[in-house]
Amino acid sequence: MNFIHGIIIYVFIINVCVVARGLHEGHGHAERTAHHGAHGRHMSASHAHYTYHPPRYIAFTCRHCTSAEIYPVYRLTPPAYVYAYKDSGSRYRDILTGLSLYNLGRAAHIGWFHTHQYTVRPEERCSLQVIEKAHFEEFEFPCFMISSFIETGGKKPSNKTRLVDIASSQINVKPFIRDTGPPLEVTKDQECVLWHNLTTQKERNHVPCALLKEYANTVKPAGVPVYIWLPTLLGTVIAVYLCCECFCKNKEKEVVKEEAPLNELRVPGYCASY
Ligand SMILES: *[C@@H]1O[C@H](CO)[C@@H](O)[C@H](O)[C@H]1NC(C)=O
Ligand SMILES: *[C@@H]1O[C@H](CO)[C@@H](O)[C@H](O)[C@H]1NC(C)=O
Repeated sequence: MNFIHGIIIYVFIINVCVVARGLHEGHGHAERTAHHGAHGRHMSASHAHYTYHPPRYIAFTCRHCTSAEIYPVYRLTPPAYVYAYKDSGSRYRDILTGLSLYNLGRAAHIGWFHTHQYTVRPEERCSLQVIEKAHFEEFEFPCFMISSFIETGGKKPSNKTRLVDIASSQINVKPFIRDTGPPLEVTKDQECVLWHNLTTQKERNHVPCALLKEYANTVKPAGVPVYIWLPTLLGTVIAVYLCCECFCKNKEKEVVKEEAPLNELRVPGYCASY
């Protein structure tokens, strides 16, 4: 492959990438307008910062367990509030993101049809307590986020209740993003206690905080797009290849030049004389 060939291939790759970029942006635009129509611009902006990489399952070994347990994963595109939490400057951004995804995963696993509609009660309040030996903190969150944990208790929804689809992109969680600051450092020893408080009854669930962090880690910052890194990478590879080729050709010539004097040095009997 000579220099001209290299240039032609590189130009071809650039073209492919530009086409790919066009397709990508076209798609992105369609998505953006759809989101804009639904609930304003700010929600979809967070999609640009983060991408969801659902693993097949999450294997987690709790503090006092001997082996890992398998936890269900939500495999569809997460609703906007998941990204809103991750992108928020909240101290609890990881716990809130993780709890949302854990609940969605559980709901999908238990039977989506029955679990994705959550009945909101006017008097209910939910909070999460982070508990460690000498450490305690608590914050409130919307109860639909633990829909898969809450026992319905056979109560018929009254006319005051309202249904929320936990996968809806129109849920606004802004009122629950309060405690801004550096993220809470999640450790293996922390226990996250989920409270669902009604006026007459209280329900409690325990989850290792580190498990919620595992769920939160499946939402990753969006990397450099393919249409930028691919041509750069291929360009570098071709450049290195061409440089090597030139360098090796020069080396060969040098070697040929040096062959004669080197051979002359190797006089038989030179070694034998020692
Ligand atoms: C729910 O009840 C528990 C136990 O009484 C309490 O510690 C927690 O702060 C309550 N949460 C809310 C949001 O009222
Ligand atoms: C809801 O139910 C209450 C009684 O529990 C009744 O007084 C009220 O009119 C109802 N509201 C609507 C909108 O149906």
